[in-house]
Amino acid sequence: MKLWGGRFKGESSKLAEEFNASLGFDKRLYRQDIQGSIVHALMLGRQGIISGEEAEAIREGLSGILRDIEEGKLEIGGGAEDIHSFVETELTKRIGEAGKKLHTGRSRNDQVALDMKMYVREDMDGMAEALSGLLAVLDRLIAGNRKTYMPGFTHLQKAQPTTLSHHMGAYREMFRRDLSRLSDARKRLNECPLGAGAFAGTTFPLDREWTAAELEFDKATENSMDSVSDRDYLLEYMFVLSLTAMHLSRLSEEIIIWNSNEYRFVTVSDAYSTGSSIMPQKKNPDVAELIRGKTGRVYGDLLGLLVTMKGLPLAYNKDMQEDKEAAFDAMDTVHSCVVLMGRMLDTMTFNTERMRESAKLGFTNATDVADYLVGKGVPFRTAHGIVGELVLKCEEKGCALEDLSLEEFRSYCGAIDEDIYDAISLEACVGRRKTKGAPGAEETE
Ligand code: ARG
Repeated sequence: MKLWGGRFKGESSKLAEEFNASLGFDKRLYRQDIQGSIVHALMLGRQGIISGEEAEAIREGLSGILRDIEEGKLEIGGGAEDIHSFVETELTKRIGEAGKKLHTGRSRNDQVALDMKMYVREDMDGMAEALSGLLAVLDRLIAGNRKTYMPGFTHLQKAQPTTLSHHMGAYREMFRRDLSRLSDARKRLNECPLGAGAFAGTTFPLDREWTAAELEFDKATENSMDSVSDRDYLLEYMFVLSLTAMHLSRLSEEIIIWNSNEYRFVTVSDAYSTGSSIMPQKKNPDVAELIRGKTGRVYGDLLGLLVTMKGLPLAYNKDMQEDKEAAFDAMDTVHSCVVLMGRMLDTMTFNTERMRESAKLGFTNATDVADYLVGKGVPFRTAHGIVGELVLKCEEKGCALEDLSLEEFRSYCGAIDEDIYDAISLEACVGRRKTKGAPGAEETE
């Protein structure tokens, strides 16, 4: 049954009807839709727009529908156009005339905006919880690995030694920022659009602030035209999700590199790896690759909706129905990525001996030799040149800087003493980096 049949004489095309329908994907809004409708009906009753008995009958009817859906006794379907039509039609089927009064002073335009905002709000809370779970795993790795040495890279070339704590701490910062962006976006979203009607409000004396407070919004929206046209909150959330996906993707990329046969810094557990159908020896980091891959799709969701919105005149246009599949996809995708990343990290083995060995190779202590010379009064730029020559010498000999004899060192710079060896050991290189944010154990702590 159509909510708007009255004005129409001709049959609508089956194809157009299917094209127009959103029930297939907006049915997941049933709980928010029913909750919003209950509060709307109670407000109509309080304001004397419908009678108290009618409001009560609507509340009971809607609660029954909710219960039946959740208990699997009522299936959402039956050819309804969208979740709003489905719920209203079912209500009238159950309680008769009073059900027909539910939509007084309301449009599906403000209704769908409300439903989506409520859904997004809940999803944001779930996302914050998932991110906190991931942060807890990172915190455990950070706490337990202050002296787990590994090379740090720039240009994917070994640069200076660092620790696993420090490296994981960098991701901690990214996900912490994601959390804070999430709570910012949630605050901005939390204004209730219900009562905006189609776009021009209504002639009925609604109490929009009461409705807003009942539905746990901070206030009612300010402009009824904006209320039904605004999808900023979705775009903002999708951007936050895109950033989180980007962070997850970078971490995945590192896990994939670290798990490679060449690096062997980590071993991803069997639970989060997959084999090959032809090569019996293979164990591939598919979960990490998929997290990296799905990032493109989340960006696509964001970009798709940005483009959908860019040419829309005020106020509501049906184009905006396209927000849902993209937004739901981004939310579902990033949620599972965050959870899986936490579990994969939590069960991953770090091959700390191998990481330590790798940290020592590749002249990662060259900066420390230069810093040592600075300590002996050599200007940094001069020291940089001397160490460059020392590295060349080591490359010829096929040895590390600390393998040079004191005589060899001194033939390049007389300021070098026996204490050079302690100053450029792996422990010293990392331990003496005590500037704020640096990998020294105390600073990491
Ligand atoms: N299914 C629609 C959507 O998601 C609900 C709003 C429909 N409003 C309208 N005037 N056709 O956007």
